[in-house]
Amino acid sequence: MTQVEAVARHYDALDVHYREIWGEHVHHGYWRSGRERPEQATRALVELVADAAEIRAGARVCDVGCGYGATSRWLVAERGAAVVGLTVSAAQHRHALADLGGAENPRILLRSWLDNGLPDQAFDAVIAIESISHMEDRARVMAECHRVLVPGGRLVVLDWLAGEGASRWQRRALLDPICRDGRLPELNTLRDYARLAATAGLTEVHGRDISAHVWRTWPVVLARGVRRLPSDRELRRLVLDRSHAEHGFITMTVRVLVGYATRAFRYGMLTARRA
Ligand SMILES: C[S@@+](CC[C@H](N)C(=O)[O-])C[C@H]1O[C@@H](n2cnc3c(N)ncnc32)[C@H](O)[C@@H]1O
Repeated sequence: MTQVEAVARHYDALDVHYREIWGEHVHHGYWRSGRERPEQATRALVELVADAAEIRAGARVCDVGCGYGATSRWLVAERGAAVVGLTVSAAQHRHALADLGGAENPRILLRSWLDNGLPDQAFDAVIAIESISHMEDRARVMAECHRVLVPGGRLVVLDWLAGEGASRWQRRALLDPICRDGRLPELNTLRDYARLAATAGLTEVHGRDISAHVWRTWPVVLARGVRRLPSDRELRRLVLDRSHAEHGFITMTVRVLVGYATRAFRYGMLTARRA
């Protein structure tokens, strides 16, 4: 099975759980004070990306790994952008199209970023929220970001990361299983991402560790899952059936929390510009 197929299978198999537990946005929230409600934190993360990507009315935006298309739709509705989103999950694509009800903006494609077929210099901004960590060949991933951006265009990447100083033990006990169960070929550090962006020819490369603002996502997700258990037979099956192909996702949730607490696992934002 290729990496793209493994990721597609993961999101297709867990489709119903993602929608019921995470909702239509399959990404962390961003807490400024720590007192916000989860929906406010979800919106804050999208606003953070939109602002960093300098998305204004009429901007052409590519949403790499768009999930159910919720961020793409938000950028159209709230910022007046023209958005193209890509996902490799047929289930996500189907739901995204159903939510659009025939509207043509955003345009949601069932297609891999590594084989995107998009024209050169077609976008004012490329955003990738928690998708690049699923992809192999990150040098090519960044080269594609550079290729489709217009000169002056912005790249904003939010992603799961390895801590800069993760020990061998932390890699073995936390990061390697997170990669295996989350269908991630590897976890890069923020510095790795910055180097990849610079090597692809991007300028104004800036990385920011925002773990302190986002880690609260996981207690929220765990609590939602636990609350659903008594009434959700499929979720109970996922939790209890060790032979379920995506069973590891449950323990991964706990490993991510331990990873944040021990700084082995991090979450960061990379911004860059095509010169
Ligand atoms: C954690 S979800 C994030 C979804 C979305 N960005 C959001 O914030 O709701 C990861 C997404 O990356 C997408 N993805 C993973 N590998 C991909 C690839 N090679 N090309 C395009 N999308 C990919 C998956 O299909 C999925 O939609």
